[in-house]
Amino acid sequence: MTSPKKLFIKTYGCQMNVYDSERMAEALGGQGYVETLDAADADMILLNTCHIREKAAEKVYSELGRLKPLKELNPNLKIGVAGCVAQAEGEEIMRRQPAVDLVVGPQSYHRLPQMEARVRAGHTALDTDFPEEDKFEHLKGRPKARRAPAAFLTVQEGCDKFCAFCVVPYTRGAEVSRPASRVLDEARELVERGVREITLLGQNVNAYHGAGPKGDMTLAALIKDLAKVDGLERIRYTTSHPNDMDDALIEAHGEVPELMPYLHLPVQSGSDQILKRMNRSHTAESYLRLLERIRAVRPDIILSGDFIVGFPEETDADFEATMELVREVRYGYAYSFKYSTRPGTPAAERPLVDADVADARLQQLQALITEHQRDIQGSMVGREVSVLVERAGREPGQMLGKSEYLHAVHIDDAKAAIGDIAKVRIVEAKTNSLRAVHL
Ligand code: 5AD
Ligand code: SF4
Repeated sequence: MTSPKKLFIKTYGCQMNVYDSERMAEALGGQGYVETLDAADADMILLNTCHIREKAAEKVYSELGRLKPLKELNPNLKIGVAGCVAQAEGEEIMRRQPAVDLVVGPQSYHRLPQMEARVRAGHTALDTDFPEEDKFEHLKGRPKARRAPAAFLTVQEGCDKFCAFCVVPYTRGAEVSRPASRVLDEARELVERGVREITLLGQNVNAYHGAGPKGDMTLAALIKDLAKVDGLERIRYTTSHPNDMDDALIEAHGEVPELMPYLHLPVQSGSDQILKRMNRSHTAESYLRLLERIRAVRPDIILSGDFIVGFPEETDADFEATMELVREVRYGYAYSFKYSTRPGTPAAERPLVDADVADARLQQLQALITEHQRDIQGSMVGREVSVLVERAGREPGQMLGKSEYLHAVHIDDAKAAIGDIAKVRIVEAKTNSLRAVHL
């Protein structure tokens, strides 16, 4: 018997890449690959890359430089680049780093088996098309293993919003939604494999409009159908645009018990002037009113957001407006980034903010967000929550999982197994997690 070929995948960036990496591993599983956690042991290394900020893209080239010597140790090793850097830079990657054998864009993963055969035959392979066929359909029917209790499921890809700073509409293309029946089939199959929580993914997931039995469906309608799937206990979705939070989706947060009380809703800035220049087509006020409506139907919801500081021409007053918005919302989680110029986007033409000023603003914003995050974690002490148990903790008898609010929770002397939803009381808030005991 020949020993299986080893596949090492390193994933950068967003959760959609995590989902895509799993699908790529399944596709190559059909070619006799098993995954390894050790790059030095691999016959194929794939970097699933992110292009959202310049740093993210540069990391890929430095990683490729580090991996190159492995080819001298193992002449059978093939190196591939997937994801948004592959889509954006294509052939340029092989020019800059000749150790790369394969470049595959996010819409072509179902073609990986043929591409793998090509590189094994000693050629290079490049595919950054936006093909007509549905890659998700072609990625089906691969070997199925038991899955962890929480899984991602991509329902929508691409974005039509064209925020002035963002490469996504160029690298991932226009919005495309998967038909509802396909999403429901995949969800049922995940549940059969042990999954109890599904996070629906899309670059702009709440713009979902996949084909349904009576015309296009909204995300709210899809969530309601998913909630009826037996054994699926928890649903989340990410990431959303404020302008696509329609009435039905807001109401779903109050009506659908399976929809977890956590929402990632990026605002990017608290200044109307900056929001306008970002082409966000909402104001700080309309965003706050939207949150009020969501909190009215689900008062305990925990909010999360994304921020960009140092957007071109951002003044001190603009930045103060962002701080003010954060003080008003009090996010349970938030991700803040220093503006990074992306060539080809409209904002790349505008004058930059001084780098030291942008750094100082980022630190100030992150300190405020951390303060709120700690307060909110602290306020969970004494509360009863339910935890989806995902794995054993470090201490004997301890299990680790996520609360409905997405907090990481350690349960002491756990009487629950992986995949159980345990009722617990929070007894302590630590920096990045909570500690709990059974009720
Ligand atoms: N510079 C900095 N941050 C960016 N993001 C997107 N594009 C850029 C950029 N050019 C951030 C946004 C987005 C998150 C995924 O990344 O906040 O919501
Ligand atoms: Fe990028 Fe999100 Fe704006 Fe789309 S909505 S352009 S993905 S930041």
